[in-house]
Amino acid sequence: MDTAARPPTLIAFAGSLRRESHQRRLLQHVAAGLSPGCHVAFLEPDPLRLPMFNQDLEGDPAIRAELVALHERVATADGMLIASPEYNGGVAPYLKNTIDWLSRLPRIDPDYADRWALRHKPVLLLSASTGWSGGLLGLQSTRALFAYVGALVHAETICVAHADHWQTPEGYGFEPDFEAHVRRVAQDFVDLASALRKPRADA
Ligand SMILES: Cc1cc2nc3c(=O)[nH]c(=O)nc-3n(C[C@H](O)[C@H](O)[C@H](O)COP(=O)(O)O)c2cc1C
Repeated sequence: MDTAARPPTLIAFAGSLRRESHQRRLLQHVAAGLSPGCHVAFLEPDPLRLPMFNQDLEGDPAIRAELVALHERVATADGMLIASPEYNGGVAPYLKNTIDWLSRLPRIDPDYADRWALRHKPVLLLSASTGWSGGLLGLQSTRALFAYVGALVHAETICVAHADHWQTPEGYGFEPDFEAHVRRVAQDFVDLASALRKPRADA
């Protein structure tokens, strides 16, 4: 199939393990509003089984297998939606730990030395917070993290302040202006990811 005709495939990752996570709810809300044909695959509901990073565990075959599987999913996606809660003004530990582990794969396995999945990978950052800031401060360190590992971090972000207030049984019931902002930023990102996507072997 012609690359331009193939619908974009995104993966979504919520940097919170909480069952009722606002990050996951926000990703689901955004995914539901995208243009038809744009496929969003969630890394969860199965939480990643990576322990707290410890360089002594790099040789563990089970961890290696988890990293290889994760790397494959990132590599085959046209872009990533990353929602991170703000913890004390910074990036959430579950997300940081995941990226720290993944970043080791090219160093511990020569097969991955020249095909780092996050290199030039379009990434849209999102955050939902129960506070007034919407997690914007935390996204500064999340942005620095993804830029450091070589991703193309989209300029705009989606930040939801007072997330409890907007929550509905279906997702979020934002004011129309904010809902329009969310949809425009998400669609701009999809358009960017579509324009930058690479041909896939199975395409
Ligand atoms: C350890 C911790 C630190 C937090 N720090 C902040 C913070 O710096 N700014 C903020 O707006 N909210 C902060 N919060 C509140 C989070 O925005 C809120 O718990 C949010 O629901 C977490 O995301 P989740 O629902 O996806 O788990 C913090 C929460 C925790 C548990």
